[in-house]
Amino acid sequence: MAHQFSVQQSIRQRHSVRSITAQPLSPAELARLKRYSQSLVNPFGIPVSFHFLQHKPAAEGERLGTYGVIKGAAAFVAATVPQQPAALEALGYSLEQLLLYATALGLGSCWLGGTFDRSGFAAAINLTETEFLPVISPLGHPRTKRSPADKLARWLAKSDQRLPWDRLFF
Ligand SMILES: Cc1cc2nc3c(=O)[nH]c(=O)nc-3n(C[C@H](O)[C@H](O)[C@H](O)COP(=O)(O)O)c2cc1C
Repeated sequence: MAHQFSVQQSIRQRHSVRSITAQPLSPAELARLKRYSQSLVNPFGIPVSFHFLQHKPAAEGERLGTYGVIKGAAAFVAATVPQQPAALEALGYSLEQLLLYATALGLGSCWLGGTFDRSGFAAAINLTETEFLPVISPLGHPRTKRSPADKLARWLAKSDQRLPWDRLFF
């Protein structure tokens, strides 16, 4: 697939996925995500960097931890920006674009701004002192059945009470 996809369809389809199969991303999927991430620009003109991480729990222990919120993810993306005004807006714009593309590839994702081991991820991507690491997301193939942690998180966050399309966009 080239980079063309229906953004509207991805917005309608996408929801947070915390239950992911152990199947790693294929080299082709990873390559597409990387290529697309390198093509992204945002209205703030602030460069957003994406770090794709393959989870290797056996070799490295639970380094890329999510406090049990995400089950089974074999890959994550960590988004970073230089610390400057509008950095978070730029990051939000670009990461959502990337995750909508991942949705079009059939991959699940979930913004994690709180429930992740920030220092473990910061070490894994060699975060510098001038950058922010506000959020990460798992990337992978969704399980058909949601884990209890996933169901609980959705219930706590009222995830299934999204406003209808015509009230969100007008
Ligand atoms: C900026 C941001 C930070 C988030 N941080 C977390 C988090 O730390 N842990 C978590 O389980 N979900 C997190 N979420 C996911 C939200 O809970 C989820 O997007 C919301 O419940 C709506 O559900 P939906 O994405 O399935 O529509 C975050 C979402 C956003 C936009």
